[in-house]
Amino acid sequence: MLEGRLRRNDLESKIMTPQEASMFIKDGMIVATSGFTPSGYPKAVPLALAKRAEEGEKLGITIITGASVGDELDGALTRSGVMKRRFPYQTNKDSRNALNNGNLMYQDMHLSHVPQYIDYGFFGNIDVALVEALAITEEGGIVPTTSVGAMPHAIKNADKIIVEINISQPMELEGVHDIYIPERPPHRKPIPIIHPKDRIGTSYIPCDPEKIVAVVVTDIPDKVRPLGAIDENSKKISGYIIDFFEHEVKMGRLPKNLLPLQSGVGSVANAVLGGLVDSKFENLTCYTEVIQDSMFDLIDAGKVTIASGTSFTPSEEGLERLLNNMEHYAKHCILRPMEISNHPEVARRLGVIAMNTAIEVDMYGHVNSTNIMGSRMMNGIGGSGDFTRNAYLSIFTTVSTAKNGDISSIVPMVSHVDHTEHDVEVIVTEQGIADLRGTSPRERARKIINNCAHPIYKDRLMDYLERAERGKFRHEPHLIGEALSWHDRFLQTGSMIIK
Ligand code: COA
Repeated sequence: MLEGRLRRNDLESKIMTPQEASMFIKDGMIVATSGFTPSGYPKAVPLALAKRAEEGEKLGITIITGASVGDELDGALTRSGVMKRRFPYQTNKDSRNALNNGNLMYQDMHLSHVPQYIDYGFFGNIDVALVEALAITEEGGIVPTTSVGAMPHAIKNADKIIVEINISQPMELEGVHDIYIPERPPHRKPIPIIHPKDRIGTSYIPCDPEKIVAVVVTDIPDKVRPLGAIDENSKKISGYIIDFFEHEVKMGRLPKNLLPLQSGVGSVANAVLGGLVDSKFENLTCYTEVIQDSMFDLIDAGKVTIASGTSFTPSEEGLERLLNNMEHYAKHCILRPMEISNHPEVARRLGVIAMNTAIEVDMYGHVNSTNIMGSRMMNGIGGSGDFTRNAYLSIFTTVSTAKNGDISSIVPMVSHVDHTEHDVEVIVTEQGIADLRGTSPRERARKIINNCAHPIYKDRLMDYLERAERGKFRHEPHLIGEALSWHDRFLQTGSMIIK
């Protein structure tokens, strides 16, 4: 059944059921897992843990992943009450409700910081690493599946390791990964990536086989998330970005094949990248975090030569396409630890073009990507800050209104700040594009309102700006008492529109 996936005889005696393996995890433990954007996460052991709690056992643990994981982990462990603390990113409906209700402690973090947190014990001692693997090599090395995330540091730092070998993951994945673990400062060396295609490490994660206490065989597929259809607004946003790229090439500020692209998560991000399929750009490269469906289109169209990331993040159709053509996509994709895929040093050296999605943007260019109405967590900052702060060019996209027009995504003041005016260079909505480079706050405000706000909100935004400008301090003028009244109005009446 394992057909070359378990290459050490001494580990055969460690094969056991998910229930048996789960017994290594006890109340109060800290468990670091594989998994990044519902890909490559452990599934069978988390379900066994949930069952133990449902049968009455007192079991509460901390979970640290790479990023979001599937329902078998986040969902099942939230519903059963097993997961008490969670780091560093999630997208699960039940976890989101639990953390917003105050029943789950959650820290939303820059993803490139997480491996160092694990390595130095900032989260506490890692009792168990629970990881999904394609195979275990002769040396005990662990070959990841559809993501790498924080797995290398989980394996390096855990007292005990439980491996789920997932036989539904195709063996063609072997060789896609490039594992490099930087030294600790002050001995840390430059990361030798000068092109997205560079491979600098091993195809497996080094692991001390003595620490492997259990091997579980599973065939549960990744429970990936659907992507919204590419709608008219996304097409318009994508069109503005492509025109902007053409302009930048003409101005000599971007090479003809652009610079390595980073594209965020979600439907709009997927659509933006998809727009490049029909563009005139060729020989594109990507140095990104997640490889979504539109990347497969770009690879198939011969537009993208190499895509470097830390996980495949396909929809259900995308997953089928990926798994059925793994040999083909493996030639064009590299999966790295998230510390490397999101590393500020590499993003800055390569001159990445960062394209991420905002929930809301304010007239001065501050971006909220996480907390709806200031305090309702959506997902988390993910890697958007890693790239935005260090990119050659940082772009944020959002549709200009949400909830059928009752919310303006362009507001006087964001209700929560993830990316500041210092890091945000271009804003794009379906209304148009605002290039904020070389602008003062008040110049920026006019560009954002005129080019990006929806017509139903434009006059009110301009009225706010003009009244604020009459105040005493005019660098970045605000009417502090009124600044968040837009959000308050929505919370009180269900709409930002004044009827
Ligand atoms: N005010 C209130 N709600 C808003 C809103 C606003 N200004 N803008 C969007 N929303 C709501 C939408 O209505 C939708 O709600 P629903 O789930 O109830 O339908 C939800 O937010 C998601 O919006 P949608 O347009 O479907 O977004 P998306 O799939 O393009 O994702 C983000 C957008 C911002 C949530 C997503 O990109 C994200 O989590 N980003 C942060 C992490 C990140 O950037 N990672 C990439 C690093 S590589």
